[in-house]
Amino acid sequence: MRPAADYETLPHAPEELTRGRLKRIGQGIGKVVYASEHWVVKRYRSPTEMVSLIILWRMLRRWARHLPFGIGDRLLRRESAVVGAVSKIIQTVMIVIPRSVWFTRRVAASWTLYRARNRRGERLAREVLSGTGLMPRKICFPAITVLVTGLPGWLTVYEATERVDTTLDQLIRDLAGQGDFESVGRWLDRYLETRQNGWKRGLFSVDAHLKNFGVIGDRIVLLDSGGLTDRWEDIAPRLEKDEQVSEPHKSLGLEDVFESNPALAARFDERWRALVNRGTVSAHFIEQM
Ligand SMILES: Nc1ncnc2c1ncn2[C@@H]1O[C@H](COP(=O)(O)OP(=O)(O)O)[C@@H](O)[C@H]1O
Ligand SMILES: [Mg+2]
Repeated sequence: MRPAADYETLPHAPEELTRGRLKRIGQGIGKVVYASEHWVVKRYRSPTEMVSLIILWRMLRRWARHLPFGIGDRLLRRESAVVGAVSKIIQTVMIVIPRSVWFTRRVAASWTLYRARNRRGERLAREVLSGTGLMPRKICFPAITVLVTGLPGWLTVYEATERVDTTLDQLIRDLAGQGDFESVGRWLDRYLETRQNGWKRGLFSVDAHLKNFGVIGDRIVLLDSGGLTDRWEDIAPRLEKDEQVSEPHKSLGLEDVFESNPALAARFDERWRALVNRGTVSAHFIEQM
């Protein structure tokens, strides 16, 4: 991929990237993310790896409860070592059994959708969000090789992204762990404000999971532009599904966070339902036009 206008070009890479072995701090379907003190670099997964993860999540939705040794739960909690190991097994199976067996129409559809969403999201982020402070800073530089944990142990990169203090998901878990529910409530309010800021600019994220947002100081930024869209035909079905969810905090994975504080959960659910619906979002979009 070619660095675009939203990247600052530097004459050489920050020295901290080559000072030691970079640790893995996050991963999704498409990327594995490694960090130095202030910067992150990304390894883009191969198509085979991505397809194996898609198959893994599809199987899991159906079979998690039937797997032995608590593997299902550990996968659902996204324990990275377990996810990595199971994904490797699936990749091996993909080599030995015919493609027509595993590359089902549904898997193909998920893969195409994921790629299309990423491309559109990246373009929109570049066109609409660069320079707004709603995304972390990005830099590019002449290619360097960095050492990373895990296999193959190194990575060639020519771009890096500002490292956020923490993801919104992690911050909320930490605050709830400390019993600081006032801050949990405040950050969730900010999260909903951030989303509305996007809507005002004619952008909506169909993948607005808390892990895809980061925190820099008191600012929330979007880490993953995949899922950004400006097309109402993508947005409406997503919202239609959201409108049917009775306890949105659960689908955001916050069930255990709010376990001891049902009142705050109810308050959040109410605010969410008032905002994340076709009526409110389309009003923002019409203002735009
Ligand atoms: N700039 C960053 N600073 C800190 N962590 C990050 C950063 N970018 C991504 N991450 C972590 O890596 C994870 C995967 O990155 P993401 O861009 O969401 O990949 P994918 O497209 O595969 O979902 C994120 O959920 C987040 O936890
Ligand atoms: Mg992501």
